[in-house]
Amino acid sequence: MTEKTDSKKVLVLLGSPRKKGNSTTLAQKIIKGAEAAGATAEQIYLHGRNIAPCNACYACQKPDSKGCAIDDDMQVIYRKLLDADAWVFASPVYWFSMSAQTKLCLDRCFALLAFGKDVFVGKKIAIAMSYGDADPFISGCVNALRTFQDAFRYAGAKMVGMVYGSAEKPGEIESNQSLMQEAEALGQKLAKS
Ligand SMILES: Cc1cc2nc3c(=O)[nH]c(=O)nc-3n(C[C@H](O)[C@H](O)[C@H](O)COP(=O)(O)O)c2cc1C
Repeated sequence: MTEKTDSKKVLVLLGSPRKKGNSTTLAQKIIKGAEAAGATAEQIYLHGRNIAPCNACYACQKPDSKGCAIDDDMQVIYRKLLDADAWVFASPVYWFSMSAQTKLCLDRCFALLAFGKDVFVGKKIAIAMSYGDADPFISGCVNALRTFQDAFRYAGAKMVGMVYGSAEKPGEIESNQSLMQEAEALGQKLAKS
């Protein structure tokens, strides 16, 4: 008999091209906290994946749609998004917003509605962002955070928390101890909420 488990599944979408970048470092701390609280986590490194921009065909919004008409790596990611209880978007600030890799994936999430009008409802969301400027407003980080907030509020998902901080060189953000603790605590919250 298979043992029933209620451990939460966390899907982490990494939107930086740097494998050991600052937003990824933040995401790793979220994962650490989530796993310590009993969740399982899977990471997807978006950079270099075959993910086309949405072409606005609206095939995904038609009655009885089978999903997105574009046959690329998002097809596998859709399955994982549907299966996960929580999604983490980790992104650097690029030109006062999220990275293009992240935005491509977010735009394509429109097609999740083909799998049911309530697919976003109840999904737990966490955001991890890093930026080069000292200030979250001047850097454009707040713009990106607002985009995530507005998008997931519109979709009916639950924004559990956002962690963000200033850093330039890859991994430099790790020296911000209070932020690392905040990220770990966010991971724990994701696993429990
Ligand atoms: C193409 C590009 C655009 C950037 N634009 C901004 C920006 O608008 N505001 C900012 O504060 N930092 C900007 N940065 C700096 C990055 O946000 C910063 O180095 C961040 O910590 C990188 O995160 P990562 O290590 O996760 O990739 C930019 C960096 C690059 C490469």
